[in-house]
Amino acid sequence: MQNQFEICIATSDHQNFAVIIAAEMESSAKARGTGIAKRTASYIAEKMLEGKAVIAFNKDGIWAGFCYIETWSHGQYVANSGLIVAPEFRKSGLAKAIKKKIFRLSRTTYPESKLFGLTTGLPVMKINSDLGYEPVTYSELTQDDAFWAGCKSCVNYEILLSKERKNCMCTAMLYDPKDHYEPEETKEDFKQHSKLYDRFMRIKQWKLLRPFLKKDLIKFFSFFN
Ligand SMILES: CC(C)(COP(=O)(O)OP(=O)(O)OC[C@H]1O[C@@H](n2cnc3c(N)ncnc32)[C@H](O)[C@@H]1OP(=O)(O)O)[C@@H](O)C(=O)NCCC(=O)NCCS
Repeated sequence: MQNQFEICIATSDHQNFAVIIAAEMESSAKARGTGIAKRTASYIAEKMLEGKAVIAFNKDGIWAGFCYIETWSHGQYVANSGLIVAPEFRKSGLAKAIKKKIFRLSRTTYPESKLFGLTTGLPVMKINSDLGYEPVTYSELTQDDAFWAGCKSCVNYEILLSKERKNCMCTAMLYDPKDHYEPEETKEDFKQHSKLYDRFMRIKQWKLLRPFLKKDLIKFFSFFN
C-alpha cells in the first residue's frame, strides 16, 4: 500500500475529477443495492474548493479514491462522508488510508466536534472502529434536519421515517473527543515524542554522571603523583 498511492487534501486543481467521482458513487450504490445519499458533481467540487475533501491517485495519476467533510448542528458534529474507492483499487488498504487522512483533517479543523458516520458497510465499520469510533443509537447523532434530509435519496428512507428517525438499516458510529480513551501507543506522534524523551534522558544522565566521572579521573591521576 505504501507509495502505491498519493493521498492529499483536494484543491481547485482537482475539480475536473468531480464528475468521475459522482458517477462512481452512484454506480457503486446501485451495484450494492443499498441506499446512499446522492451527491452531485458540483457539490463534490465545492468540497474541494473549501479544502474539506481528500483525494487519492495511483502512481500514474489515475483517480483512485475520495472522501469529504460535512458539518452539522453549527459545527458540533462532523461527518466524513462519501467515501469511495475506484473498483480497480479496492481491497488494498486505500479506504483505510483515505479515512485516516480525512479523520486527521477533521480533528485539526474541528477539534471540539463529535465525528460520526452512518453506514451499512462492513469495511467502513472496521475502519471507523480502528479510528476510535464506537457504535451508538441514532439519538447520539446530530438532530440537524438538513443532515437527515440527505437520506431522502436512499432506498431505505421509508424505513427511517417509519421508525421516526430512531433507527434504520445503517449502523451509527461516533467519535467523541471529550469521551474517548486513546492508548499512548496508538498516538501518531508517540514515536516522535519517545525519541525526544530518550534523547532528553541520555543528556540528563550524562549531566548527572559528569561530576562523578571527573572526580574518579582526578583520583586516578592523583594516584600516580
Ligand atoms: C467500501 C470501500 C470504500 C472499501 O474500500 P477498500 O479500499 O477496498 O477498503 P480497504 O482495503 O481499506 O479495507 C478496509 C477494511 O475492510 C475490509 N474490507 C474491504 N472490502 C471488504 C468487503 N467487501 N467485505 C468485507 N470486508 C472488506 C478489509 O479487509 C479491511 O479490513 P482490515 O482492516 O481488517 O484489514 C469500497 O469498497 C467502495 O468504494 N465501495 C463503494 C462505496 C461504499 O460502499 N462506500 C462506503 C459508504 S458508507
